[in-house]
Amino acid sequence: MSPQLLIDISALLASFLFIYGLKRMSSPVTARSGIVVAGWGMAIATLAAFLYYFGVSEAAKPHLTVNTALAVIALTVGVSWAWWSGKKVAMTSMPQMVALYNGMGGGAAAAIGAVELLKTGGHHGPLPLVVTIIGSLIGAISLAGSLIAWAKLDGRINGTWRIKGQQLLNGTVFLATLALGLVIVFGYHGHAPAALTGLFFALALVFGVLMTMPIGGADMPVVISLYNAFTGLAVGFEGYVLQNPALMIAGMVVGSAGTLLTLLMAKAMNRSVANVIFSNFGPSSDEVQGEIKGSQKPAEAGDAAINMRYASKVIIAPGYGLAVAQAQHKLFEFVKLLTDAGVEVKFAIHPVAGRMPGHMNVLLAEAGVPYDMIYDMEDVNGEFKEADVAIVIGANDTVNPAARTNKSSPIYGMPILNVDQAKQVYVVKRGQGKGYSGVENELFFADNCNLVYGDAQKVMVAMIQAVKSLDGGH
Ligand code: TAP
Repeated sequence: MSPQLLIDISALLASFLFIYGLKRMSSPVTARSGIVVAGWGMAIATLAAFLYYFGVSEAAKPHLTVNTALAVIALTVGVSWAWWSGKKVAMTSMPQMVALYNGMGGGAAAAIGAVELLKTGGHHGPLPLVVTIIGSLIGAISLAGSLIAWAKLDGRINGTWRIKGQQLLNGTVFLATLALGLVIVFGYHGHAPAALTGLFFALALVFGVLMTMPIGGADMPVVISLYNAFTGLAVGFEGYVLQNPALMIAGMVVGSAGTLLTLLMAKAMNRSVANVIFSNFGPSSDEVQGEIKGSQKPAEAGDAAINMRYASKVIIAPGYGLAVAQAQHKLFEFVKLLTDAGVEVKFAIHPVAGRMPGHMNVLLAEAGVPYDMIYDMEDVNGEFKEADVAIVIGANDTVNPAARTNKSSPIYGMPILNVDQAKQVYVVKRGQGKGYSGVENELFFADNCNLVYGDAQKVMVAMIQAVKSLDGGH
């Protein structure tokens, strides 16, 4: 078998594994194996790319002078860092990690573009040049934007950064970058001076920063997903430039999956993607919130638990605090006591509960909660009015009724879990902490709501004890 044929077959196999892996990720039952399948695809693609550029393929010869040692060092550093950081990352820091890795992908695509543009003696036609420029532009924006998103989510940059005339400035920088790209393609036919090419990349990076700085609060997940789609597109374009089918297919898969996820998340928050990017909507804003009437009424964990033990139907709304407290195992232990006592229990999952898509599903799966107890928001929202008790554990924004009624609230328009419609609501939280969007929650002041203060794990332990002592320790 010729080396070229071997490489072509590897590319095809890798592409198949990416698509099949992604398909398996569509259900929580098969998702874990989907990750492994796609990982094997990536290993094969990397090996094929390595063979392609490092001497096996005749087709690669005119491309580059290669430095094998440097490539091996880069691969070793990349693989060890990813392995180490993947092993040690906390579940709650996963969105930051996704943002960071996504930025790397965009940066890699931009770097391929830069090499192609700076290569002397390359023979580019106008189409490959246009594709290289577009891929570089999108890749560089995605790199800079993802790094800012990472810094914001990791608490290294706080709040949002806005200046007067922000959108005019952003528009000007973007148009200047685009104009420079056109000059490189049509003015210099790909042989532009290095300084000009450098300026093009610098402007694209600046635009990525400017575009992301004003966005904040609850919009960050949508932005990360958007950059994920950008990275996919950039990689796909550069795959075309390199004539590498695995890169093209992987890029398109990531690009389309990212686009779909972006649209779905924007829909879950009842916002348009343009509104997320341009509306300068951030966290905070006590000033736009009206006075909330009523008072917060505390309840003991034991009393709440016994009330649930004698209920017919209990719906649980988990949120970010459940992940912080790592209370999922204790929660499920408590749920088993309830179901053993004949209580009907359901979990209601809000699409943006927690800090990443599917966060709650992953947590509950980790604790062994059966999938048939877990319901998406739209499937369970009609049932709260029949529930005797709704218990909110570490959730806040996703159960805030202001999203329905208060037009001046930053979360206005986001669909929420209808926990307030249950006969009795218990909210487990540590104190007066606000949710991700930083707004107060009028649910906590409602007549049918009591607050069970404490770390979610400690509260669950107390609830388990209360039910066990009631049922004679069985
Ligand atoms: P949040 O609104 O963030 O509220 C979390 C609540 O958990 C806080 O009120 C906090 O109150 C409580 N809490 C924290 N640690 C706790 C602990 N150890 N024990 C008990 N309670 C604890 O949560 P949510 O309802 O899940 O909403 C998610 C928010 O994040 C939305 O605004 C969403 O848009 C945004 N977001 C979502 C994603 C995705 S894709 N899921 C990504 C980024 C951002 P105390 O401090 O008083 O305990």
